[in-house]
Amino acid sequence: MRFDIFTLFPQMFEGPLTESIIKRAREAGIVEIHLHNIREYATDKHKTTDDTPYGGGGGMVMKAEPIFRAVEAVLGLPPRRAGEPTPPPCPIILLTPQGRPFTQEVAAELSQLERVVLICGRYEGVDERVREHLATDEISIGPYVLSGGELPAMVIVDAVVRLLPGALGDPEGARKDSYAMGLLEHPHYTRPADFRGWRVPDVLLSGHHARVAEWRRQESLLRTLVRQPEMLSKAPLTEEDRRFLEALCSRIQELLGQ
Ligand code: ADE
Repeated sequence: MRFDIFTLFPQMFEGPLTESIIKRAREAGIVEIHLHNIREYATDKHKTTDDTPYGGGGGMVMKAEPIFRAVEAVLGLPPRRAGEPTPPPCPIILLTPQGRPFTQEVAAELSQLERVVLICGRYEGVDERVREHLATDEISIGPYVLSGGELPAMVIVDAVVRLLPGALGDPEGARKDSYAMGLLEHPHYTRPADFRGWRVPDVLLSGHHARVAEWRRQESLLRTLVRQPEMLSKAPLTEEDRRFLEALCSRIQELLGQ
């Protein structure tokens, strides 16, 4: 898979994209990540990439021209004009707090693609013509406003790369992820069995695989019920899961005297 990321701040990506899982996935040829500095595609001598908004008001708006030129050059597209839509060869995603919410399902959807373009907006916003006539999709990583699309782009790349076959050490890792299973994960423990008087649950030390599996599943169900109950309606639950949850609810009703 290949990501092309368009940004005014390529150096922000140093670190997150050059360490750990993403570093190894890049070295193994599982993913290619190309950073493109939008400023290099500005045509005036000052390399201007932003300007004041028409209609007044504070702040600056990112100009359409350098972004169009950058994406067209990298994708090998002819210059786009009104009335001449050229379909792009891959999705062109604008990162904006107004976009569709980024979820594990969206990460899975993107991980199926050969190539994805990410455009990082900055300042007060991006000229609307980028959204209307260049981007094919808009994504938000959450209901809050960041200073730009760079951190969202890193979040998306991370969530997608770990889903690519071979990216994780444990080939089952991504499938076992809590959100992928539709439930929150059970608690994890490692040595020592007693840390400052806090003991690991006995069942995990029992060596009894079936009981460990049952305990983990029940802890997952319990956590999901308490922390993210809306996930339960979509989770693939077994008959046994349902019986456990129903027994739990009956017990709570009993305790409340209902
Ligand atoms: N740019 C600024 N805030 C953002 C957000 N929450 N998601 C995506 N892009 C953004």
